[in-house]
Amino acid sequence: MPDRLLLVGMMGVGKTTVGRRCAERLGWRYLDSDAQVVLDTGRTVPEIFAEDGEAAFRAEETRVLAEAVGSADSVVISVAGGAVLAASNRALLRRSGAVVWLRADPTTLAVRVGSGVGRPLLGDDPGSALAALYEVRRPLYESVAQSVVDVDELTPEQVTDRVLAVTGLVGAAPSGSPGPGS
Ligand code: S3P
Repeated sequence: MPDRLLLVGMMGVGKTTVGRRCAERLGWRYLDSDAQVVLDTGRTVPEIFAEDGEAAFRAEETRVLAEAVGSADSVVISVAGGAVLAASNRALLRRSGAVVWLRADPTTLAVRVGSGVGRPLLGDDPGSALAALYEVRRPLYESVAQSVVDVDELTPEQVTDRVLAVTGLVGAAPSGSPGPGS
């Protein structure tokens, strides 16, 4: 199986920032599932929600995730917060690589997302919306992740260090570099 690191967790937890840093450190390709949906559809996430509804967005999300884990290269994937809602995505995540849950208290998330611009599920009261979403999703993240990193008190660099440490990926050879003995 190719090397894959999959970061899951709520909106605002830092999956994109940490995912990029992990990919840089490992020399692996980086993919953000939301960014890929935007690239493939030519529309923003709020546009897809507003024009076609959440179900249409979830279908795109599922397609992008399957494509991302289907590629043969080593990759770090930031998995959008709601992808775990589908049982099929959860099963796919579990069999696709090292899955790390970046966990934060909803109050931390509320500070980080601010007014919630660009995040259609957060509405007028992001703090309450995040708390409600977290209640539903916490067991789902727990069910797919092999490791958890609590990010509340950590900088992105510290979170990156911990992700690489808990997965045992620290010191992994960059993708494409010659292996031992070659
Ligand atoms: C969502 C998370 C967002 C984005 C959309 C819905 C969710 O991605 O896919 O706004 O349901 O948690 P991030 O987790 O990357 O912010």
